[in-house]
Amino acid sequence: MITKQKGTNDIYGIEAKKWQYINNLIDELCEKYNYNFIRTPVFEATELFHRGVGETTDIVTKETYDFIDRGERNITLRPEGTAGVVRSYIENKMYGEAIQPIKLYYNETMYRYERPQSGRDREFVQFGIEVLGSSDPLIDAEVISLPVNLFKLLGLKGIKVNINSLGDTQSRNNYKKILVDYFKPHIDELCEDCRIRLEKNPLRILDCKVDKDNELLKNAPRIIDYLNKESSDRFEKVKEYLDLMEIEYVVNPKIVRGLDYYNHTVFEIEATVKDFGSQNVLGGGGRYDNLVQELGGPSTSCMGFAGGLERLIMALDKEDIALNLNLTTDCYIMYVNDEEKKYAVTLSQELRMNGFKTEIESMSRSLKSQFKNADRLNTKMLIILNSEDIKNGVINIKDNLTKEEKKIKETEIIDYLDANI
Ligand code: HAM
Repeated sequence: MITKQKGTNDIYGIEAKKWQYINNLIDELCEKYNYNFIRTPVFEATELFHRGVGETTDIVTKETYDFIDRGERNITLRPEGTAGVVRSYIENKMYGEAIQPIKLYYNETMYRYERPQSGRDREFVQFGIEVLGSSDPLIDAEVISLPVNLFKLLGLKGIKVNINSLGDTQSRNNYKKILVDYFKPHIDELCEDCRIRLEKNPLRILDCKVDKDNELLKNAPRIIDYLNKESSDRFEKVKEYLDLMEIEYVVNPKIVRGLDYYNHTVFEIEATVKDFGSQNVLGGGGRYDNLVQELGGPSTSCMGFAGGLERLIMALDKEDIALNLNLTTDCYIMYVNDEEKKYAVTLSQELRMNGFKTEIESMSRSLKSQFKNADRLNTKMLIILNSEDIKNGVINIKDNLTKEEKKIKETEIIDYLDANI
């Protein structure tokens, strides 16, 4: 037997219903925020992620699915959505469109070659939003508010929004020097990866998973204490707008994010649900004002977020949140002989095209078994065909809840169902 690959999931049955419910809610909420759906390819040139996500990030050094295709091209399965969206923004010259900023969302599979564990898969789905073309701190607050509101609408209570600012380039460079001076005398106390990070990307030491309990990290200088005035004023504005939106947050100087493209606001939304496990970050994002230019486009301020749907569903399950799933069927068409079956086929077409969720018997079951099956499908109306009725132009219909049974003229069936379902 061939089994699924490590770190991948089959989503079906009731689980799939949950996914559909959440996907619909995402579509509806993004519509309210005026974000437009974008679909970019699953695979892109490897170079896009090296330049976009960053050469020194864990994602690029250890986690990408890379291959050479039959045309000898270096290809990578996307490990995240932002780089592809930015590539598309530049390639399609969206910066020249009349309506600005460009507000986009996606909800698609991503691929990271990680060591699979609960909440960490090799194929997973990210819901993400990206705003390209506005530097207004209001957008930072808006991008943080959208996933928070999504979680609220789903009924999720245990979440914590951590925000931080990495400042502008000047503030960050200044801080990097301070950080290097701080860590250098203690280089032997750091893990192997952090020793490399000290040279290449010292900020990343702060969110090291190996060294996280090291006192040295806990007492490290905090970036928000080294922001220049412009950067700290900007951060104050973001907080002010979040307050106005009544979005609760905590300023957490440890949030530096694992991707290279960030500046100014960064944030992570954590599940505080009991027993969630170590992969408790539901999503994160931040501002990336330099990425469009680094990938060959015009200077463009951007802000975005992405969250993992597998983790979100885990959090909902842990909190025992029952989603309002539609597990009912409007009509079940029953029959026993071939003449009735032909009538059933025609009728099923009419009912479905008029908007009724309709099941038609397809297992040649006895009438008794058809009743049972209709119950399993939580059917509201049973349509029990018989040859005599067909001749008389009527349909026998039974309300499966009240058990009331009636004969309706076949020409009036749609009106009857409209009035009674
Ligand atoms: P990220 O923090 O790498 O950010 O991923 C965002 C979220 O995707 C994580 O918080 C987590 O919920 C989910 N996720 C990541 N890896 C896995 C995995 N192996 N299994 C399951 N879920 C996972 C980004 O990807 C950025 N592109 C976010 C962003 C958008 N920044 C600006 N715009």
